[in-house]
Amino acid sequence: MQKLEVFGGNKLKGQIKISGSKNASLPILAATLLSNNRIILKNLPKVGDIETMLTLLQSLGSKIKINKEQIIIDNTKQQKNFASYNLVKTMRAGILVLGPLLAKFGFAKVSLPGGCAIGTRPVDIHLKAISKLGVKYKIHQGYVIANAPKGLKGNNIHFSKISVGATENLIIAASLAEGTTILSNCAIEPEIKDLVNFLNKIGCKIKWKSKRTIKIIGVSKLKEISYSVMFDRIEAGTYLIAAAVTEGNLKIQNIIPKIIKTEIDILKKIGSKIIVKKNEVQIIGNKKIKSMKIKTAPYPGFPTDLQAQIMVLLCRANKSSIIQENIFENRFMHVAELNRMGAKILTNGNKALVKGNINFAPAELMATDLRASVSLILAALTSKGKSVINRIYHLDRGYENIEKKLKKVGAKIRRVN
Ligand code: EPZ
Repeated sequence: MQKLEVFGGNKLKGQIKISGSKNASLPILAATLLSNNRIILKNLPKVGDIETMLTLLQSLGSKIKINKEQIIIDNTKQQKNFASYNLVKTMRAGILVLGPLLAKFGFAKVSLPGGCAIGTRPVDIHLKAISKLGVKYKIHQGYVIANAPKGLKGNNIHFSKISVGATENLIIAASLAEGTTILSNCAIEPEIKDLVNFLNKIGCKIKWKSKRTIKIIGVSKLKEISYSVMFDRIEAGTYLIAAAVTEGNLKIQNIIPKIIKTEIDILKKIGSKIIVKKNEVQIIGNKKIKSMKIKTAPYPGFPTDLQAQIMVLLCRANKSSIIQENIFENRFMHVAELNRMGAKILTNGNKALVKGNINFAPAELMATDLRASVSLILAALTSKGKSVINRIYHLDRGYENIEKKLKKVGAKIRRVN
């Protein structure tokens, strides 16, 4: 099992190029199942979850060719509609193939994702909504067995709760349904906008009617296209916080700054100096870090995927801070490990009281989920001495070349077997 060794104490200085978005790539890869043609995708990040999704598509009959700059997906012979547990269990986004398989074949057998470290990850909102398109389903031995005997029929659907995955699944399914579908109370994360751009480019007819309402007119013909996915805003936010917590000076490149406006505004309030350019944000960390009250929320609120990272920064603030996690029911797995490094974080339900003026001590650590793992690296980067982070396969699911990118800007970090 690989681990990372981090010798902290250096200020990070230099430039970091941000990779393609994992969370835009996953729904777009699932959506390629709608097509019977070839589709070329660019800027996909080389991370574990993308490899898993590509393996899942191959298990469904997609022919996949990977070269340096792009991935060619050939669906001319894609016929299968069974997504097995052994692939979906490691990557919950596997449930996103349900919508396209139903749209294309009118039948799908997809493993329920199962829970993970941050929560039970139910899919009830996906299933309730998809049944509104004329789908009958049952849960049998951990699988969703769904079929639409008369094909998918457009309908008006209101999501009871904002869900990124359910919004994506339904937009994809409705793209080939007969008639028009109106989805309301949608999630509006930038990755969903990227999915809609991709779908419209292959010939779907999708239009935002208002902030959280979208209209999809079903089509039957799709085109062969090439598409480049957006930048990873969570990776960008992670490295912005890395600069702030090490009092460094980083230029974060290949991004669209307005998409991470919330994060930039919060880091400015905390005390970082930030210079925004067209496709780059420069951040200069400040010795004085102000305490904050942070509440995670659906976009455009503060992202739950940066909650663990900002918690590390707030441990270094001049006073105590409060973080409220409003999206997932168990997303404080990083707290115990940070407390082992000397943090003083008290949790009560979905609230964490984060004491300030903490100097992290190096330690042997255990990663639990993707974003918790990276928060351990951020803490280790500030602590004088050697920290070791185990189970870094969690990290490799969502961060491309993390130790190379950090080493390039002065971090003393290395991967050991
Ligand atoms: C997506 O997960 C992201 N994953 C997550 O990123 C991200 O944290 C999350 O959205 C919130 O922004 C991908 O895009 C692949 P949700 P998703 O459906 O779609 C509950 C990362 O680190 N819910 O918006 O699963 C759910 O349990 C990952 O990159 C139901 O109750 O998130 C959660 O509490 C982690 N029933 C809340 O809604 C459902 O049917 C939001 O979940 C679906 C969700």
